[in-house]
Amino acid sequence: MILKDKIAVVTGVSKGIGEALCNQLLDNGVKVYGLGRNDFDGNHTNYTFIKTDVRNLEEVNLAFIHILNENNNRIDILINNAGLGYFGNVEDLPIEQWDEMMQTNVNGMFYCTRLAVPAMKSNGIGHIINIASTAGLEGMPMVSGYCATKWAVKGFSESLWRELRDFKIKVTCVYPGSVKTDFFRNSPNIKPHDYMLHPEDVADMMVYALKTPDNFHQVNLEVRPLQPKGPSK
Ligand SMILES: NC(=O)c1ccc[n+]([C@@H]2O[C@H](COP(=O)([O-])OP(=O)(O)OC[C@H]3O[C@@H](n4cnc5c(N)ncnc54)[C@H](OP(=O)(O)O)[C@@H]3O)[C@@H](O)[C@H]2O)c1
Repeated sequence: MILKDKIAVVTGVSKGIGEALCNQLLDNGVKVYGLGRNDFDGNHTNYTFIKTDVRNLEEVNLAFIHILNENNNRIDILINNAGLGYFGNVEDLPIEQWDEMMQTNVNGMFYCTRLAVPAMKSNGIGHIINIASTAGLEGMPMVSGYCATKWAVKGFSESLWRELRDFKIKVTCVYPGSVKTDFFRNSPNIKPHDYMLHPEDVADMMVYALKTPDNFHQVNLEVRPLQPKGPSK
């Protein structure tokens, strides 16, 4: 896809991977709509922030109505990035934290996707990128709730690419290992460090996937840091 003048929606833009992604899409001439509870410092003529909690169906509906009206029923790119994790033994994981993860990581993705797909179908072009995690490929002790949400992202994406490929819509699921962002704020054991992946590099990979030729579909992108604990002596 040639990115210049394409219309993109990115969720969860205040920091981390979402912020890096917005900046790189803007550098590539994309018109970007950032949906989130908070904005990054996205002062650019091609950037619009729409205050949206992705768990809130009504707010998501209003955001998409606005974007589709403003762009003649076009959305070319949707990146479902908003997400968070809580950690702990299953018996200690509060119901509220389980619900927040499910509502953000799974419901939010579904709400946005179902509103973008009709426009993509009618325009015969589209690329949806869902950010899962390596936690969507394997189970991890004390990460059961977050893993469950990211396995759901995987199942959704695996179904969707098969459902949409003949409509010329690509669906890519991204599985990053640890990325140096604020994501680990709720983790008792893990703190961000330089040997993790960097959000700019993960964003760069997604921009590369968006730029690939129309008949070239990267379905899954699994990326992990080399020497995740630092260089061995
Ligand atoms: N960092 C990692 O190691 C890692 C690894 C694999 C996958 N991931 C995934 O990558 C994605 C981005 O995470 P990150 O690492 O960039 O973490 P981050 O720095 O914590 O950023 C998460 C973003 O999601 C937004 N968000 C959270 N709940 C939201 C809601 N209800 N509505 C709208 N936006 C919401 C946050 O905005 P607020 O300002 O509103 O909180 C923030 O902008 C997530 O899906 C995460 O699960 C991260």
